[in-house]
Amino acid sequence: MNKEGKAAPGKTPQSKIPFRRVVKTGFDINRRAIPVLFVVIQIVSVAHALTYGFSVLLTQRFYDSVAGAIASGGDIRAALIPLALLCVLLLGRELLNGLHNFMHSVVFSKGGIEASRTAHAKMGRLDPVVLENTDFHDMFNKMQEGQSNILFLVDIGITIFTFYLPYVLFMAWYLHRVNPIFILAILFVFVPTLFGQLLKTGVVVKFEDKAAPVRRQSALFDSLITSREFFKETRLLGAYTDFIKRFLETCRELSKAEWSASRKKNLIELSMALFTVLGWGGILFLLVRALLRGEISAGAFAAVLGSLRLLFGIMQEAFGHVGSVAENYGKGQNFVRFLDLPERGGTASATDAARGIVLENVSFTYPGAEKPSVDGVSLTIKSGETIAVVGENGAGKSTLVRLLTGLYRPTSGRVTVRGADTREANSESLFAGVSGVFQKFRKYQMTLRENVNISEMPDSTGKALHMTGRALNTAGEAASDGPETYALASVGVDGGDAASFPQGLGTMLSREFDGVDLSGGQWQRVAIARGLYRGHELVVLDEPTAAIDPIEESRIYKTFVDISRGKTAIIVTHRLGSAKIADRVAVMSGGKIIAVGAHAELLQTCDFYAEMYRSQSEWYEQEEDT
Ligand SMILES: Nc1ncnc2c1ncn2[C@@H]1O[C@H](COP(=O)(O)OP(=O)(O)OP(=O)(O)O)[C@@H](O)[C@H]1O
Ligand SMILES: [Mg+2]
Repeated sequence: MNKEGKAAPGKTPQSKIPFRRVVKTGFDINRRAIPVLFVVIQIVSVAHALTYGFSVLLTQRFYDSVAGAIASGGDIRAALIPLALLCVLLLGRELLNGLHNFMHSVVFSKGGIEASRTAHAKMGRLDPVVLENTDFHDMFNKMQEGQSNILFLVDIGITIFTFYLPYVLFMAWYLHRVNPIFILAILFVFVPTLFGQLLKTGVVVKFEDKAAPVRRQSALFDSLITSREFFKETRLLGAYTDFIKRFLETCRELSKAEWSASRKKNLIELSMALFTVLGWGGILFLLVRALLRGEISAGAFAAVLGSLRLLFGIMQEAFGHVGSVAENYGKGQNFVRFLDLPERGGTASATDAARGIVLENVSFTYPGAEKPSVDGVSLTIKSGETIAVVGENGAGKSTLVRLLTGLYRPTSGRVTVRGADTREANSESLFAGVSGVFQKFRKYQMTLRENVNISEMPDSTGKALHMTGRALNTAGEAASDGPETYALASVGVDGGDAASFPQGLGTMLSREFDGVDLSGGQWQRVAIARGLYRGHELVVLDEPTAAIDPIEESRIYKTFVDISRGKTAIIVTHRLGSAKIADRVAVMSGGKIIAVGAHAELLQTCDFYAEMYRSQSEWYEQEEDT
């Protein structure tokens, strides 16, 4: 796997992945998922192949003994032993077949789980900025498809070696023994089919590259039309018709590409099948000629004819699989490409809390963007300080927050968090003890309690809970009802209110799962409670409060800061009433920090800030009245 620095951040490489790497990746997944079964299934597969080979030998022996019995006056007892052996072998063959199929289903199910686990683990190690790249979503879509393909690929690859190859080698030996010319039979079936499958590879790879972005668009329009989240807005704003039109367009485009790829594949298959039929005719001719010339006995003729039929069927099946090798290789590459994405890496530990956060001439440009979103920012945030970041839409506030938490790393300049450069720090130490609530927070379709306590604790000792409990105690609350209740109460949500939450904290927050739905403002409060619940040394509030009125926002922010007393807090807001509670305010415009200072100081020194404050002043007058 590539480590840090092998590709530019945010770029998704599209290089060709060698076949052996794709196979090895799938092979390793299977080996990890089912180490013992994986070996057993190969042994069963070889045994299964050999039963096919030996059945041909026994068939010939049976025919020969019947022919011998007829020639010697009709005593068929000599034929009974080969017949009995043949029956036992055929029975064993069917048993092995059933066992093989059963083991396959287990291999796929366990291998699938391991492949998902591998992909999820990789996702956790990725540099988060990769997600800002639009290519990434296509790549993710393709990776998910490739996940099962890579397992098929290994399965087929191995089956070719453990089943088809032993069988074909056995048959080659057998046919050669009867008459060397019959070896041609194998070539007549083999060559055209193999050639056709190679041609099909290119078709499938091209189709996948074309189809993935369209499939993603199609899924988006489908969800805009049908999902509960977008449905109301879509209908009310009249975008419904347009989305249906666009959805159908993507379906048409997808089906056109599918149709074209399938037409090409079928044409290739058809031409190759014609060659094979000609070859099959040729072999029949040779066989009949050998019989008429007395080169082979009638018994050998019957056995070879029967075995050739079987060989033809099995070879077709094998090359059907070879065809899917090509297809699965094309798609399986996407899985390996995903695993090759640059990882975040970093070994330094960001643990020296006393050193706060230091930004030195920091700039950041999103992948694919032309202008930096944060431009030459320098700022020092002391440990335990509360900083408000204010500015208009698009000023760069959220981007700044992503940089100073270490989520994104600067394109130039340096961010040092708790003593470690974010370019060198490991994610675990960077994010341990960080809590946050963001503009685009998640509404989990889980219970009220789970919505609050879903946050991973910084350690498993319960320290976070204890910390939260203690902080709440500091705020003067009793500590008996559990930290979820207090976190919720701090943001004005009463989990015990039976009218809103019939099952208390256990109430499911989802209509889809027979629960209740919340208003936009209530959801925001629950999200804030979640941020509060997680034990933290640094907390970031990036405007999760759009649906909460300015006075209430200010109150919630204040509660948050009080509870987080002694911790570093960064609060992003448009509303300067909330900014007032901070020790210092950083004013952003056009990606730059244009002023930093205490609220009162900025009112005097920063016209931009003073003007923003004046235009919002009626809210604060109201607040001051209350
Ligand atoms: N993923 C992205 N790719 C490219 N540009 C982006 C991306 N996200 C944000 N930007 C751009 O970066 C700039 C700053 O965005 P940011 O979200 O940091 O602003 P903000 O101050 O938080 O705005 P708001 O108050 O609306 O939340 C904007 O011009 C925005 O268009
Ligand atoms: Mg923002």
